Amino acid sequence: MNVIRRPVARYATALGFMAAALAVRLVLDPVIRDRLPYASVLAAVAAAAWFAGVGPSLLAAIIGFVAGYGLFVYPYGQVDIIGVQGLAMSVLYWISALSIVALGRGAHDAARRAEVSAREAQERGAALAETERRLAERSDEDETILDLMPVGVFHAIDQSCGRVVGNRAAHELFASPGDASRNHAAPTGDLAVGCRFFQAGRELPIEDLPLQRAARGETVKEQEYEVMLGDGTVKHLFGSAGPLHDQAGRVRGSIAALMDITARRTVEIELERAKREAEAQAQLLERQARTLHTLLENVPEGILMMTGAPDFRVIALSRHGREMIGLPEEEIIELARLLVDVGIDGVIATNTTVSRPEHVARLEGMGAQEQGGLSGAPLLELSLRAIRTLKSVSQNRLTIIGVGGVMSGDDAAQFIAAGADLVQVYSGLIYRGPALVSEMIHSTSGR
Ligand SMILES: Cc1cc2nc3c(=O)[nH]c(=O)nc-3n(C[C@H](O)[C@H](O)[C@H](O)COP(=O)(O)O)c2cc1C
Repeated sequence: MNVIRRPVARYATALGFMAAALAVRLVLDPVIRDRLPYASVLAAVAAAAWFAGVGPSLLAAIIGFVAGYGLFVYPYGQVDIIGVQGLAMSVLYWISALSIVALGRGAHDAARRAEVSAREAQERGAALAETERRLAERSDEDETILDLMPVGVFHAIDQSCGRVVGNRAAHELFASPGDASRNHAAPTGDLAVGCRFFQAGRELPIEDLPLQRAARGETVKEQEYEVMLGDGTVKHLFGSAGPLHDQAGRVRGSIAALMDITARRTVEIELERAKREAEAQAQLLERQARTLHTLLENVPEGILMMTGAPDFRVIALSRHGREMIGLPEEEIIELARLLVDVGIDGVIATNTTVSRPEHVARLEGMGAQEQGGLSGAPLLELSLRAIRTLKSVSQNRLTIIGVGGVMSGDDAAQFIAAGADLVQVYSGLIYRGPALVSEMIHSTSGR
């Protein structure tokens, strides 16, 4: 609806209507003469009331009254409102004019209010439609996100958890492995039927589940649960739940987010078991190592423990063995490897020793306490062990000339058996003379 706002324009409009009305009446005057002197004038008042407002229409009514009276009521040119007829006409005119102004203005205002209301309703409708469109988009986005999320989201619509809905992952939490027939549109509450829930080994009643606790107003944070499905499959779940409130702050439902951590828990349990086993194994090994150490330190035998080919590493050597060998076993092994690696053809093993094997140290008065290299019979065991080690490590890639402690043909035979290719004598020759040589040849012939 067009509204004239400027006062001058409003008054000009009212006067224009009135001028037009008077002109029409003047034109029609020869036809209707003294009848209906105010018909067109009142129409102009109505138009002025509608388009220009109360003030301009009242002004138009005054002008119309005076002009109409003067122009169209006999005797023309006079405005006689003193007589009965004039007074009656005047009263009727003003009742009509004021009623028209009041009704016209009221109708105009009502029409304007209706127009404003209609526009507002239209705007509200458009805003509502826009809000609905956005809500629909948002709902679609939320649904897509929920469906893609690997976390099961459960929504209790009411406080009693009578109706629970969930996303795809929520449905899959209650599906047995390989069960693809689950209907994702089914209420999640139905899917949980037949499942049993546990926490820390204790079976939970329904009211203690996170969604139900949250629906009573509780916030449940980062809890672990186990769910046993109808077919006996056990899944480990981890998650939280919280209440939903209405505008008055009352709990109206709840939401729980749970994820399947079965794979992680299985690995953790397996790791825990492996760790316990490793610890038990380590304790056992430690006990065995202590026992072995005690044994090796106390047995009167020379005991050497080695790994096999190709490493031939010394694992342990008894105290007596250390005393017998003189040169540490590790060094003999390293020496043998080195000789082979650099391409040495042979080695003379051994020589005199500055060590004092236990059985020598006990021989009081026989020079055992003397300083310097020891030769002769006490060397036999040391030499034999060194020869065996060299033979074992070199794998026949060294020619071994055995020497040290050979005092008889049998000693020489032991050298050959231990791996010596040749046998050298020094002290024995001094004590036994050349006969020792023929004895050695006799004992070793055919070996
Ligand atoms: C008095 C004496 C002198 C020795 N001189 C040498 C020597 O010059 N070079 C050498 O390689 N070995 C020497 N040796 C060590 C011997 O060749 C031999 O390796 C050692 O005595 C151990 O052997 P056996 O128990 O048969 O005596 C000597 C040994 C003795 C007892």
